Amino acid sequence: MSLSSAPAAQAAPAAPARIAQHRRYLMCRPEHFTVSYRINPWMEPAKPTDTAKALAQWQTLYDTYVALGHEVELIDPVPGLPDMVYTANGGFIVDGRALGVRFRVDERRGEERPFMDWFAAHGFDVVEPVSVQEGEGDFLLVGDTILAGTGFRSTGDSHAEVAGVFGREVVSLRLIDPRFYHLDTAISVLDPVEGPGGVEKANIAYLPSAFDEPSLAVLRERYPDAIEVSDADGAVFGLNSASDGYNVFISPRATGFEAQLRERGYHPVLVDLSELLLGGGGIKCCTLELRGKR
Ligand code: ARG
Repeated sequence: MSLSSAPAAQAAPAAPARIAQHRRYLMCRPEHFTVSYRINPWMEPAKPTDTAKALAQWQTLYDTYVALGHEVELIDPVPGLPDMVYTANGGFIVDGRALGVRFRVDERRGEERPFMDWFAAHGFDVVEPVSVQEGEGDFLLVGDTILAGTGFRSTGDSHAEVAGVFGREVVSLRLIDPRFYHLDTAISVLDPVEGPGGVEKANIAYLPSAFDEPSLAVLRERYPDAIEVSDADGAVFGLNSASDGYNVFISPRATGFEAQLRERGYHPVLVDLSELLLGGGGIKCCTLELRGKR
C-alpha cells in the first residue's frame, strides 16, 4: 500500500473564520517626541531622533485604525513629556472605569495628571492609583482575566490593587529580560473570536524567553493554543501589537510571527514604527484601549 492512498480526511483542519470587533483607542500625536533620557535599554539619548518621521509613522498607524473602522480619540501632547506618545502607559480602562498610573521613573510622572484629567473629561470613572504601575503597558485583559506584569516597572503590590479595582481575576507574570520591560512587549492579546464551533477561548501570542519559569508554566497551562513567538520576532517588538480579533497590527520586521498569524486565520496588518522604537515603544505602546462608558 502506498502512502498516497491515505484518506483525504487527514488534511489539516481549516483555520477558523476570524471576525473583526470594533475598537476604541486613545492615541497621542508625537509632536514632542525625542529621546532625552534613558529609562529602558532601547533609548540612547546621544543618538539623534527625527520627530517628523515619528509623526509620519504614527499618522500611518492612526489612519490604518480609522480605515478599518476603529475609533481613535486623541489626547493633547504636553511639551517636555516626550514619552506621552506611548498612551498604553496612561491608564488601564475596563467597564468604563479608568485606573490612573503611577510611573516608576520621575521622567514620566508629569503624564499622570493629564491622562487622568482626560479620562474624567470623557466620562470615565477615574480611580486614583496607590501603587507603582504603568497601566496597559503591564496589564492586559484576556477574556475575563487580567494578565499582570512585574519585574521592571509595575510592582507586585499593584496587581492586588488592580484585582480590587476591577473585581477580576489577576494573574501575575514576571518579566526577566530588560529589553522586554513591560508585559505588552512580550504578550500580544489576539482576543476571543467566533470559530465554526462558536466563541473560542481568548488567545494570546507570547515570547517565552521574556518570562521566568513559574510564569512560563502558568502561560503554558492557561493558553495551550497560544502562538509562541521566536526571539528574532520578539527582538523587533513583534509582540507589541494590537488586534481586533481579525486584523493584527504588527511590525513588518516580525516576519515569522506574521506567518504564524496567517496560519491561524488572522490578517496581519504591517505598520512600521521604527522611529518610535528608539524610545522603546511600538504599536501597542502607542495604543490605549478604551472599554465601556460613552
Ligand atoms: N520610553 C518609554 C518608557 O520606557 C516607552 C514606553 C513603552 N510603552 C509600552 N507600553 N511598552 O517608559
